Amino acid sequence: MTDVLDSPTRTAELLHAPDSPDAAWWRSAVIYQIYPRSWADGNGDGIGDLPGVTARLPYLKALGVDAVWFSPFYRSPQADAGYDVSDYRDIDPLFGTLEDADAMLATAKELGLKVIVDLVPNHSSDEHAWFQAALAAGPGSPERERYMFRDGQGEDGSEPPNDWHSVFGGPAWTRVEDGQWYLHLFDSKQPDFNWEHPEVRAEFESILRFWLDRGVDGFRVDVAHGLIKEEGLPHWSADLHLLDEGRHGDDAPKPPMWDQDGVHEIYRQWRAILNSYGQPDRILCAEAWVEPQERAVMYVRGDEMHQAFNFDFLSTQWRAEDLREVVASSLRAADSVGAPSTWVLSNHDVVRHASRLGLPVGKPRPNGISAADPQPDRALGLKRARAATTLMLGLPGGAYLYQGEELGLPDSTDMPHEYRQDPAFHRTNGEEIGRDGCRVPMPWQKDAPSFGFGASADTWLPQPSVYGDYAVDQQEGVAGSTLELYRSLLAARRERGLGTGGLRVVEGLGDDVVAFENVDAAGEATLVLANLGAEPVALPEGARVLVASGALDADGRVPVDTAVWATR
Ligand code: GLC
Ligand code: CA
Repeated sequence: MTDVLDSPTRTAELLHAPDSPDAAWWRSAVIYQIYPRSWADGNGDGIGDLPGVTARLPYLKALGVDAVWFSPFYRSPQADAGYDVSDYRDIDPLFGTLEDADAMLATAKELGLKVIVDLVPNHSSDEHAWFQAALAAGPGSPERERYMFRDGQGEDGSEPPNDWHSVFGGPAWTRVEDGQWYLHLFDSKQPDFNWEHPEVRAEFESILRFWLDRGVDGFRVDVAHGLIKEEGLPHWSADLHLLDEGRHGDDAPKPPMWDQDGVHEIYRQWRAILNSYGQPDRILCAEAWVEPQERAVMYVRGDEMHQAFNFDFLSTQWRAEDLREVVASSLRAADSVGAPSTWVLSNHDVVRHASRLGLPVGKPRPNGISAADPQPDRALGLKRARAATTLMLGLPGGAYLYQGEELGLPDSTDMPHEYRQDPAFHRTNGEEIGRDGCRVPMPWQKDAPSFGFGASADTWLPQPSVYGDYAVDQQEGVAGSTLELYRSLLAARRERGLGTGGLRVVEGLGDDVVAFENVDAAGEATLVLANLGAEPVALPEGARVLVASGALDADGRVPVDTAVWATR
């Protein structure tokens, strides 16, 4: 047993107790998100696809992640990049076939990578057979009952049934030819299901089984906090922004479309289905933009989902005090229900953290950045992003990585508007820039068409010219590159069991330093330290650095905006 680092002071109590080292895989897994349109293009049409993914899966094995989560690859008119599903049991021809999915699953299994798929239960595409049947069958029909059809207000029903806004801007209701209206919390091509309907529930249970039988290891559940709406659909005129969905203060009234108690019964039923598949566990991860944390962790009670994204961590500003607080409160909240916390910094809905952290601290975070906006400081953003990731991967629990962050990719921040596809951009007439900037195809090779993304030089969203410098082949084997930093972090995290560790606060290093000791069940400690101050920080005496997000200074001190893992 190694002595814990004894100087500077550490608090006696653990903020969080270690998990058993043989705890279920998902309690400490690092899960890599693939956005299928933008990872690897196998057939050269400029859009990523499953054969492209399968060919490149060994890259993820070498990176050292445990699992892959795929954003939707189902049949879809692609009105919201696949989050508008027209057939939940088939692959969109853009991405390949069911056989391609099976081949991908088989390769992942051979490599020892688990596969999580996206499930979109809040809404379907308007081109889904059920919605088409509902349109054809008319008002009052059983077919309409599976969605949220209502008569309008006003004498001729020409006013929407209530005043709800769509998350993507504009009204949340669209009128059909016979005069009725249907609810869509997102785009008009994404009608909300009626989750009070037993057929909707039965259909999704069957869809779960369809993919479980094909061998998937779990589901990321889209808009998990939205399925049940408050009875009577009471008025709610506040704007719904993507990052604010369901986020409201403790005392503020609760939005009638988010986080209704009725959702939990659905997840208990799903959990029972997953449990019936036995060992190893198949998992559910909630995308639930819910606060406060006490409400958010209700989704991960023992008989519900396994994980939920920690959007509080993602939304935290680059300030030591805020980071200390969010780490402590996340662990406290998750511990209260016996779930592991999760950590995430980037995904397909937010500005990549290498760009986000290059914006001034304290300002509200934009949902997207355009050429007309203040531009992030690219070098500062990357430095902080590397430090933030080093801090994140040193914390116990699950962690989610978004494709390209291991290359330090910035957002595309000067994309010409004619390329933009996010419905949020179009529904707000460009007022919301939208999420296209974080969805640009991956650079694999600097000197190849589309930077090695595929055979075609054209990609569905244009790649910024700087992406060539970030390409995989520019970083592989290069000491100090972001890719090699991620590989080192993931290898050390596994070797030292940091994902199942306990956590203790280390004090006495100054207000601008975030420092924890990650301790395993045998008491072996790893110091995880990030310097957010204005001066370099000396490490405790005798500390041996395992991994650092940037070079230490000549005196062996940790520079500003740098994080390290150390032991002694
Ligand atoms: C989730 C997805 C987002 C999508 C929305 C509607 O927030 O992450 O990409 O647009 O749901 O399905
Ligand atoms: Ca393709």
